Amino acid sequence: MAPDGKARLDELAWLRDVPEHPDALEPYFGPELRPGFVLDGRFVIGGPISRSGMATIYQAQDALDHHRLVAVKVPHLSYEADPNCFSRFQREEEVGLGLNHPFVLKFIPVEKKSRPYLVTEYLHGWTLLHLLSAMHPLPEQDALKIASLVCDALQHLHQRGVIHRDLKPGNIMICRDRTIRVMDFGIASSAAARKITISGLTATLGTPEYMSPEQVKNERGDERSDIYGLGTVLYEMLTGAVPFQHENCWVTMNRRVTGDPVAPRTLNPQLSPQAEEIVLHALQRAPADRFQTAAEFKNALDAPDRVRVTGYCDRLQAPCWRLSLRETPVLAGTLLGVGFLALQVLGFLLLRHLLAK
Ligand SMILES: Nc1ncnc2c1ncn2[C@@H]1O[C@H](COP(=O)(O)OP(=O)(O)O)[C@@H](O)[C@H]1O
Ligand SMILES: [Mg+2]
Repeated sequence: MAPDGKARLDELAWLRDVPEHPDALEPYFGPELRPGFVLDGRFVIGGPISRSGMATIYQAQDALDHHRLVAVKVPHLSYEADPNCFSRFQREEEVGLGLNHPFVLKFIPVEKKSRPYLVTEYLHGWTLLHLLSAMHPLPEQDALKIASLVCDALQHLHQRGVIHRDLKPGNIMICRDRTIRVMDFGIASSAAARKITISGLTATLGTPEYMSPEQVKNERGDERSDIYGLGTVLYEMLTGAVPFQHENCWVTMNRRVTGDPVAPRTLNPQLSPQAEEIVLHALQRAPADRFQTAAEFKNALDAPDRVRVTGYCDRLQAPCWRLSLRETPVLAGTLLGVGFLALQVLGFLLLRHLLAK
């Protein structure tokens, strides 16, 4: 534990060779905020850090707080009037402001805003996504430690009734001071925050590669969905590959509800049987078979030598093609829809043919 009370990653010698924020964004001349613009008389906008389909994140300085660096996330103009986007932003801020933990991205409250945006501390460092693109797999010890710190953050979230629901390498930051931050509460569910509308939810269900089977089945899920999400991230750190990866996201989703991932030690024979046991325990399809809490998961990650190897790897079941409205609703629903449409077209053609006679 460091003097400020934060647990830290060890030196991670390999990290020194990876540049921070490598992907400079193309200058953008749309109707976005320009560098130098002062937002609401307080935030002096700098360069863009990231641009996704919905929003741009800028580095900025907070003039009310000694020009401290902050990150300002602003939805694209085209989304500002969209009620779903607006409620997603409001929820993200509501959830973020209710959290306070050294490993959770810190939100900065802003009283009066002239447009929707949210402000957080600015982080110097690397997303795990970026690190994994530079080096995979990661050394086992580092991967277990990173997952253990994420468990600390998850414990804090879960104690406050928040489920992250979108844990993935792009939403985990490894900071320069060797601490971590869990971020992006865009689709988090919270017992306290307002309920998101169904139409808002369906558009933002999560990321197919990291979704839990219950999320694939369109169920709400609970903290054990985050255990699964972190399990997929750990699997990727340990093996260099995402479990169930396939170019078609439907296949990816179908595989995870009908079968188990390839045993990690098949992909990385250097892994210890204990690390394999831990990751396969987190990736059990039934939530009741996984670690039940982030604390339980963390205990295993912190003391792998004490983990009893029960041989999850010998009980793995290969994914199969199964069509069921309950288990594979997206696939089954789409195929049913396509089938129904085809029948209608056939019926129409037949009718036209008969009438023409
Ligand atoms: N506070 C921050 N400090 C530094 N970089 C950040 C910060 N917030 C986000 N980023 C960068 O922007 C990316 C996208 O941020 P995120 O909050 O996950 O938004 P999105 O909803 O677009 O996924 C992150 O992967 C990270 O590279
Ligand atoms: Mg994100």
